[in-house]
Amino acid sequence: MRLTGAVVLVTGASSGIGAALVRRLAGAGSHVLAVGRHPDRLARLAAETDATTLLADLARPGAGRDLADRAVARYGRVDVLVNNAGTGWAGQFAGMTEATADELLTVNLRAPIELTRALLPGMCRHGGHLVFVGSIAGRLGVAEEAVYAASKAGLDTFAESLRLELAGRPVRVSTVVPGVVDTPFFSRRGQPYRRSRPRPVPADRVAAAVTTAITRNRAEVYVPGWLRLPVAVRGLLPAAYRRMATRFG
Ligand SMILES: NC(=O)c1ccc[n+]([C@@H]2O[C@H](COP(=O)([O-])OP(=O)(O)OC[C@H]3O[C@@H](n4cnc5c(N)ncnc54)[C@H](OP(=O)(O)O)[C@@H]3O)[C@@H](O)[C@H]2O)c1
Repeated sequence: MRLTGAVVLVTGASSGIGAALVRRLAGAGSHVLAVGRHPDRLARLAAETDATTLLADLARPGAGRDLADRAVARYGRVDVLVNNAGTGWAGQFAGMTEATADELLTVNLRAPIELTRALLPGMCRHGGHLVFVGSIAGRLGVAEEAVYAASKAGLDTFAESLRLELAGRPVRVSTVVPGVVDTPFFSRRGQPYRRSRPRPVPADRVAAAVTTAITRNRAEVYVPGWLRLPVAVRGLLPAAYRRMATRFG
């Protein structure tokens, strides 16, 4: 799909990866619908990029459907949906409240499903592309991020299943799998990233991977690319992988 002239809906546009992606898409000539919760941050992005901003709290059940209606009302169609908004929480699972677990599952998994359900019929008629921003946590599992990892694993499997189901239709499906990215994600979840490795990659590198996934129709893109190695090792040698993961984290 060409980005020039495409109508692209980006959730989580007010920060980090989403904001970098809006800048790239606007530079490529897309009509961008930038979604977030913070009007001031979105207004600054709109002034810089000409993107149309839409406010939505995706932690509210039904927000995805409502957002899809407002997006279609603006341009008459959405060609590309980038399900990027996400929220994290880190700590022992026993210390996690039910409300926080619900919020993670709603923002990271339920809202993308709602948005996809609402926009897919139009895409099946005129063509489209669905992008899901997952996480290496959803591919491997991470200690003290059990619900976050589960929400991203659910997103992954949803995307993979849709890709199979939509074969032969004019709708493409891509999953982008970042490792550690230099964004406010960690400060927002209340626990900074403290490890020296892997080193965080810039948000714009993930934004570039998203645009490549759209223009070259890639089913999945890891950022950085070497992350596919631990996933492969886990698939081929699960016992050895678990021993290493338990030892090195
Ligand atoms: N940073 C990493 O290391 C990393 C690694 C792997 C995957 N990811 C994934 O990448 C995606 C983008 O994250 P990021 O790193 O760019 O983090 P970020 O800078 O914290 O941005 C998160 C975005 O999600 C939006 N969001 C969160 N809760 C929301 C809600 N209830 N309703 C609507 N929007 C909401 C935020 O909107 P507001 O600003 O308006 O609240 C913000 O625009 C997420 O799905 C994350 O899980 C990140």
